[in-house]
Amino acid sequence: MSNQLVSYSKKGAIGVITVDNPPVNALGVVVRKGLMDGIASAEKDDVKAVVLICAGRTFIAGADITEFGKPPQEPGLHPALDSIEGCSKPVIAAIHGTALGGGLEVALSCHYRCAVAAAKLGLPEVKLGLIPGAGGTQRLPRVVGVEQALKMISTGEPIGAKEARERGLVDELVEGDLLEGALAFAQKIVDEKRPLVKISARDEKVKGTDPKLFAAIRSGLNKSSRGFEAPMHCVDAVEAAATLPFAEGMKREREIFVKAHDSVQSRAQRHIFFAERAANKIPDVPSDTPIMPIKHAAVLGAGTMGGGIAMNFANAGVPVYLLDSSQELIDKGIGIITKNYAGTVAKGRLSQEAMDKCLSLIKPTLSYDSFKDVDMVIEAVFEEMDIKKEVFKKLDAVCKPTCIMASNTSTLDVNEIAAVTSRPQQVIGMHFFSPANVMKLLEVVRGAKTSKEVLATTMAVAKTIKKVAAVVGVCDGFVGNRMIHPYAREAGFLLEEGALPQDVDRVLYDYGMAMGPFAMGDLAGLDVGWRIRKRKGVPAGKRHSKVADALCEDGRYGQKTQKGWYLYEQGSRTPVPDPSVEAIILREAEAAGITRRKISDEEILERCLYALVNEGAYILEEGFAQRASDIDVIYTFGYGYPVYRGGPMFWADSIGLKKVYERICEFQKIHGDDWKPAPLLKKLAEEGKTFTG
Ligand code: 3HC
Ligand code: NAI
Repeated sequence: MSNQLVSYSKKGAIGVITVDNPPVNALGVVVRKGLMDGIASAEKDDVKAVVLICAGRTFIAGADITEFGKPPQEPGLHPALDSIEGCSKPVIAAIHGTALGGGLEVALSCHYRCAVAAAKLGLPEVKLGLIPGAGGTQRLPRVVGVEQALKMISTGEPIGAKEARERGLVDELVEGDLLEGALAFAQKIVDEKRPLVKISARDEKVKGTDPKLFAAIRSGLNKSSRGFEAPMHCVDAVEAAATLPFAEGMKREREIFVKAHDSVQSRAQRHIFFAERAANKIPDVPSDTPIMPIKHAAVLGAGTMGGGIAMNFANAGVPVYLLDSSQELIDKGIGIITKNYAGTVAKGRLSQEAMDKCLSLIKPTLSYDSFKDVDMVIEAVFEEMDIKKEVFKKLDAVCKPTCIMASNTSTLDVNEIAAVTSRPQQVIGMHFFSPANVMKLLEVVRGAKTSKEVLATTMAVAKTIKKVAAVVGVCDGFVGNRMIHPYAREAGFLLEEGALPQDVDRVLYDYGMAMGPFAMGDLAGLDVGWRIRKRKGVPAGKRHSKVADALCEDGRYGQKTQKGWYLYEQGSRTPVPDPSVEAIILREAEAAGITRRKISDEEILERCLYALVNEGAYILEEGFAQRASDIDVIYTFGYGYPVYRGGPMFWADSIGLKKVYERICEFQKIHGDDWKPAPLLKKLAEEGKTFTG
């Protein structure tokens, strides 16, 4: 019997069940039913063994995540797995691509597993705020041992097929055609009369586990997974495998899975999973828009950003020129790049050979003539409009007509830059985040005249260089930095009104941010913003906190001067609260006529984060972000926003927009029009709707 996603056929004495549910063979209800039907067919048929294989690019990559949060549909995964494990003929999983989550759980229900060497096997549920919910926490430890299972399940990181073979998770590695290899392996099992190995019946690897192991893992997770609930749930479930009989362990797994599934954290993490993928889609740019091949790139400016950007291309195997205005500056840039790579080699995360390969792909140059044939050039010179214009004019003169000309500007108008060229349709913004070789986020700035091909190609390039990209429009600060302004503004006002930097930072850190706004300011350098404020001036009639300026006037630029909002000991990045900063705050508050009061943690959180959300709502309705979930992607991948909160817009939804809106209205009454609620927020709140749907 077959259904449209799972078919059964016979190859000699072996039955073959094939799952064909593109793109990733997710275990939706039709697949689950098809697996049960396939096993029933094999039972009836005169075959001696069964191979379970998948069409397309991968073995089953997990449960169908789109089904989560909806009413369950029968049959569930458990009956499907029981029918596989209970089959009276040996069932062999044949794995290619990624056997993940429910996919690996299917494979663990089979009696044997074979795989191609390039395959990966893992239980990544924890990354979605879940635990494996179909026996993974009970079966994996019975195969690879408790310690290794804890590692795989609580981090969600997969292992390669070769390692899986060494650990007993894969029984046979297949070279060449997977189906042929799997059929041969199945025949061998039949010929050798090997037993039906039911993992559920094994306990030699879990019996007698030292309970101290769990305490040690839990204490490690408190540090490495701060704020996340799911990793601890994973440990609880694996502990059940080590302490309870299989059937009871399965019940315990179920209870924990349901709890995790229903949590806000899991909803948030699932939201980010789909948000990251949705961000690649641009409504008016069809998916079949021609993508230009980027075989050779170039970067202008070998400074902080340019060096990191060049490394991204080299890491992806794309040759890249790196230009600066003197040999000395180029040498300096290459020196820093070399040091960065060497650091990674020293940590054992890169081989010397790979480092040499990457360095050989970065080609220093002083001449624009080198750019004649490049397919993409990214400018990362000083943040001065005149310099950018001059550079783009030179590029326009030398680059081939199809070359994409991108700017990494963080504040300047990409349209104004594009206008000095004869081909504004080829110009785009690529706003990387520092350090550019590390940070995942890329804001792709769509200019008024940027062509669809250029946009689609830039999104594809982002994928090639392993960035998470989101399209933004041309506005001051684009999306991320524009939103950070009101957040930082409120943090500053809170100091004048009664809080201290360590109070604000603690509340936001405990909420889950990688660091609070003041620690972040010290890391980035306070002088940059100070110089901009001095240049631009402060808008008349607007409240402005002078505390940050006063710090800079005192030479407190942050970590680089060992003092900023905090003190730093020589060589240390640990912020130490400084009474003299408190004195400056008190002085400036008094000068501004503000009577300080006790500020609650709740107010700190609401003032900072609702400011972020309100600005996000303005950005959305002004069309500078395509969708609310793109903003969540930007904050999660670029600003250390905790993934388990789902980004600021999802978080606001989870609080309830009515509550957020009403509080913002209260703030407006107290603090004035900085808090004018975005009309979109008002509308959604009144209609009982959400940003993220
Ligand atoms: N369910 C539903 N859709 C899924 C999916 C899943 N498990 N995995 C991927 N997709 C969708 C993606 O949303 C995307 O859709 P789109 O084209 O409409 O945007 C499409 O499949 C392709 O996905 P990617 O763009 O991510 O493709 P890649 O080739 O880059 O990566 C992958 C493939 C490594 C399989 C990656 O998609 C992935 O990591 N998927 C999630 C795997 C996972 O978390 N599995 C566990 C699920 S939970 C579970 O199994 C619970 C169980 O224990 C009961
Ligand atoms: P940087 O000062 O470290 O590097 C700039 C480099 O450009 C210098 O090596 C300089 O010699 C070179 N340069 C200047 N004019 C040049 C010209 N006409 N021709 C060739 N080379 C020239 O600056 P940084 O921080 O790397 O910034 C570069 C760009 O990236 C700016 O537009 C900045 O706004 C943007 N940016 C910076 C971020 C950061 O955190 N530093 C983050 C995101 C964007």
